[in-house]
Amino acid sequence: MSKAGTLDLASGVGGKIEKEEVLTAVEKYEKYHVCYGGKDEERKSNYADMVNKYYDLVTSFYEYGWGESFHFAPRWKGETLQDSIKRHEHFLALQLGLKPGQKVLDVGCGIGGPLREIARFSYTSITGLNNNEYQISRGKVLNRMAGVDRTCNFVKADFMNMPFPDNYFDAVYEIEATCHAPDVVACYKEIYRVLKPGQCFAAYEWCMTDAFDPNNKEHQKIKAEIELGNGLPDIRLTRECLETVKKAGFEVVWEKDLAVDSPVPWYLPMEGSHFSLSNFRLTAVGRLFTRNMVMALEKLGIAPKGSQRVQAFLEKAAEGLVAGGKKEIFTPMYFFLARKPLSETE
Ligand SMILES: C[S@@+](CC[C@H](N)C(=O)[O-])C[C@H]1O[C@@H](n2cnc3c(N)ncnc32)[C@H](O)[C@@H]1O
Repeated sequence: MSKAGTLDLASGVGGKIEKEEVLTAVEKYEKYHVCYGGKDEERKSNYADMVNKYYDLVTSFYEYGWGESFHFAPRWKGETLQDSIKRHEHFLALQLGLKPGQKVLDVGCGIGGPLREIARFSYTSITGLNNNEYQISRGKVLNRMAGVDRTCNFVKADFMNMPFPDNYFDAVYEIEATCHAPDVVACYKEIYRVLKPGQCFAAYEWCMTDAFDPNNKEHQKIKAEIELGNGLPDIRLTRECLETVKKAGFEVVWEKDLAVDSPVPWYLPMEGSHFSLSNFRLTAVGRLFTRNMVMALEKLGIAPKGSQRVQAFLEKAAEGLVAGGKKEIFTPMYFFLARKPLSETE
């Protein structure tokens, strides 16, 4: 669980946005989404603004609730949530066959929780790529505290246009980040370009599953709630995701929706009837507690105006995610391991 406290949460809402501008930013962010009349195309053409606003607004809530790694994980019975999150990160390192000293890229690295864990687990040097300045400033502080600041770094850039030479990295991974891409084939092509030939790219993608029915009103509502609450342009189907990996030039080594066999459902910590002291802040009761606390902090002027609205759309996101998970129409852990061929004719 995060070491971030209530005051860190309050002072961090809005990230790099001026505190008096937070409410306007929330309004602008909400307008991008279906529930507020927003269109897919508009979200895609303004993706950088939409996603950056989203992460400026929510990062301190994420850190408060989740800790340093902003992703879900499959979980064994008897395993803590934090242990399952670490194991999910180690699994990527294992699949990529990381070796000490290799140069690795983390695409859309958040505040660097997975990067620090994987770097220490595999003795690799990891570059975290992120378009959000506030998250990078948090990541740098945490890298120094973890003692990985000499071997790992952050680069502020858009994953649609990476500032790295061709054939540069020994391995690339992304965790629940390229779902934000306005054009996923173009994004995967960038990853392909910077990866050395013969080397691998591994990912955990957010996808709708084959059980999703685009004509079902309830399914549509759940999808829209997930998009609004998570700063996403449009969520693809798992099979579309697989096609995009191939279109970018990769050969797929293997792929699987890891949610399917998870003994403990990934959405359990956020489910209404579930209670846990160790993950209290993520539970429905914990979120109710946070809602009241944020309301009080905003009234007292400690948290900026608009903070409650952020809490409200995150609450919607949690409801959408739980509903999507229960109906098995959505997964945040569609895994694939893909290899860049040694040559175009290989
Ligand atoms: C759900 S967070 C996951 C963070 C991290 N992978 C983790 O698991 O902790 C998604 C991340 O993708 C980053 N991101 C979104 N769009 C991006 C873009 N166009 N270029 C670079 N990073 C981006 C966000 O800033 C955020 O850090």
